[in-house]
Order: sequence, then structure tokens, then C-alpha cells
Amino acid sequence: MRTKREKTDYAAANGSTSGDTVDIVAYMAVRLSNLPRTWRASSVGTECSLHQLAPYIGKLKTRLAGTLVEQYSQEDDVVIDPFCGSGVVPLEALLRERSVIAADINPYAAVLTRAKLFPISDVWRALGIATEYVSRAKVLARKRNHRVTAPPWVRRFFHPKTLAEVKTLADLLRRNREWFLLGNLLGILHHQRPGFLSYPCSHLVPYLRHRKFPQAKYPQMYKYRDVEPRLVAKLLRTYARFDPTRIRTRRSFYKTDIRRLSMRTKANLAVTSPPYMNALDYGRDNRLRLWFAGVRSHRKLDEALPTDEKAFTVLMEVTARRLGTYLKPKGKAILIVGEVRKSRSVVRTDEIVRSVFENKIGGWRLLDQITDSVPDIRRSRRSYRGTKKEWVLVFVKTR
Ligand SMILES: C[S@@+](CC[C@H](N)C(=O)[O-])C[C@H]1O[C@@H](n2cnc3c(N)ncnc32)[C@H](O)[C@@H]1O
Repeated sequence: MRTKREKTDYAAANGSTSGDTVDIVAYMAVRLSNLPRTWRASSVGTECSLHQLAPYIGKLKTRLAGTLVEQYSQEDDVVIDPFCGSGVVPLEALLRERSVIAADINPYAAVLTRAKLFPISDVWRALGIATEYVSRAKVLARKRNHRVTAPPWVRRFFHPKTLAEVKTLADLLRRNREWFLLGNLLGILHHQRPGFLSYPCSHLVPYLRHRKFPQAKYPQMYKYRDVEPRLVAKLLRTYARFDPTRIRTRRSFYKTDIRRLSMRTKANLAVTSPPYMNALDYGRDNRLRLWFAGVRSHRKLDEALPTDEKAFTVLMEVTARRLGTYLKPKGKAILIVGEVRKSRSVVRTDEIVRSVFENKIGGWRLLDQITDSVPDIRRSRRSYRGTKKEWVLVFVKTR
């Protein structure tokens, strides 16, 4: 429940004419400049554990998403994120009793977001269903003598029997649209820890760590890994700080390019982080998880990403138009964009977005903007073209 003061603040922030006359821009500047203090603190040990389902490159900080949703919408409002990635904004919105519309072009993002929007309603049910699927997968894999069709680059990551069981299980889950269980399985696919399924490997992006953990010295890391105890342990971790009964409001997910997004509902608020210009490879970095999600050519996904200022501008034009169509009058659009560093120059993506929204497409006014630093884990690995900071731009629809 909001206090009376908070309600007045909210009305002011939303341009309500019913309260005292308030200079919205000055008001927002004060509120936004205070926000980073709230979201900079780490939330790893306190956030809803469903957020930790599986890694996703470019994932937003949950506190940032939560604070923005809290600040700019009310219970029962509709929040949209057309570049939802791993579903941080949608989950934060659901946990605050907002309805949610989420979309993303990437099939791995689709698995993770669907898992967060439509979790199994009870941990014991989830464990029961998961162990049943694992038994079926093991029987099937055994019948096929643990032979599977997989390219050499995938085989390099797994013991052959583990690969056969995990691939069979992933196929079964996909066929039955068990996105929540598939999301949990993808979350334990690769790492160097014993609770994961691959040979020693990094977690965020799949790189084998043979040098650090040579088989001769660490033979146990190269043995068969049983998926059942690992998936059970993962599910228990997923539910550790997550109460599924809190997910009550309406939600929908579209696996689509924003250019083809089409829906009937209108939202009150958009909170979204579009793809950084040529900074992150959502396909390449997630290639192993994508392969188990049924994608055989991850390269196509990255080819569709904006690689230069022109392509980024075009994508922002589409975004400004789409959000204009799918937001209610006076709706807000909050875009979080990264600064892109080329060998010597810096591309001000914030200026591109502002110019597109306010001038090129029009019908939008910038309410406020703040700068935040990007944590190391989310920076691009491309050494000369990383992103160092990001901007939060808040627009209001003026027509
Ligand atoms: C910066 S990431 C979003 C991360 C997300 N906010 C999170 O916390 O996980 C940008 C997302 O845009 C998606 N994307 C890129 N081009 C797209 C397009 N044309 N239409 C829809 N989604 C797209 C990518 O797949 C990626 O998931």
C-alpha cells in the first residue's frame, strides 16, 4: 500500500492534474538522482531466487528494474518489456502485482522469461514432475545406447552418457513446453562446479577450462554426471527465496522481433534495455544453452543485431513507434542503454535515443536521464568495444 505522501508523489511523477501544481521535470530530477543509491547495492543474497535461474549476458540489475517499476507504476498497471532478455523486468513487475507483457527475439531468452512468468506453482510438484521427466529421459537414452546426434563442438563439453541424457531430457521438456523445468536445466548446463553437467567450463559464456583443470590431475571432473540430483538441487535453489503464489497478475510472452510485435492490450509503462550496439553477442555467448533449446544456428541471431549507429537508430525508431502504439496516453517509456566504446571514440547511444524519440518520431518528451556504471560482469568481452556506463532515459508520451 502506498502512503498518502507516496500517492501524491506518484501523482506528481505521473503528471496528474488533480494535485498541487508540481514542476514535474524538477521533481523527477530529484527523485531519479536518489535512485542509484537504492539500486547499486548488491541484491544477490536478497533478490527473489528465481532471478538466478540461469545467466544471461547483458542482464539488468534486479534492483534497478524493481525500483523503476515501483517508481513509475501502480499495482494492476500493465508493464511491457519488448527486449526482455532473461526476464528481469517482467519478474520484478509481477512480484509487484503489475500485469506483464514481455517479448524477445532470442529463443534462450524465451525459455528463461517463460520460466519466470509461468513457474510451477509448488516446489514439491516441480520436483515430482522433474524426476518423472528425468526417468523417462534416462530410459529413452539407454534404449538408444546413449547415442545422440550432436556436433563435435557440443560433444567436447560433456561425458557421452551425460550428453545423451541431458539432450534427451531437454528435447522432452521442449516438446512438452515445460519452460520452467527447461530453464532450470539450462541453468546447470555448464560450469566447473560439481552441481553442473559439463566438463569444467565457465558459467556465463561456454569456455572449457582444460588448462586449469587437466583431466590427468582432476579425473573426477570428467566423469559421468547424473542429471537427477543436480536438477533436484537446482530446483530447491530456485524456490529458496521465491513464493510462486505471489505470481498472480496477467502475463504474456511473445517470441518475436519488435518489428513484428502485435498485441491488443495497452500498457502503462515500458521498462526495457535494447541491444547494445555491436557490444554483446546474445547468440554466440549463449550458444551451448541455445543448442539445447533447439537452436542449431546461433549465428543468425547475432547477425540480426544492430552493428552500427545507423542500424541502432533504425531499431530505436521502430521502438519509439511501437511503444507509442502500445502505451496508453501519458504512458512512460524507460530505456536503459549502454555507452559504446569504439577504438577511440565513444558512441552516445543516449543522444541517439533522445533524438529519435523527441525529434525524429516525436510524441515523446524526456522527463529525466541519469548515468549509471556497468558492473564488470556485464561488460562486453570485446576489449576495444566494451560498454562502461549506461543511461536511464525516462520519456513520457505526449500524444
Ligand atoms: C540488453 S538485452 C536485454 C536484457 C534484459 N533486460 C535482461 O535483464 O536480461 C537486449 C535483448 O534484446 C533482444 N533483441 C535484440 N534485437 C531484438 C529485436 N529486434 N526484437 C526483439 N528483441 C531483440 C536480445 O535477444 C536481448 O535479449
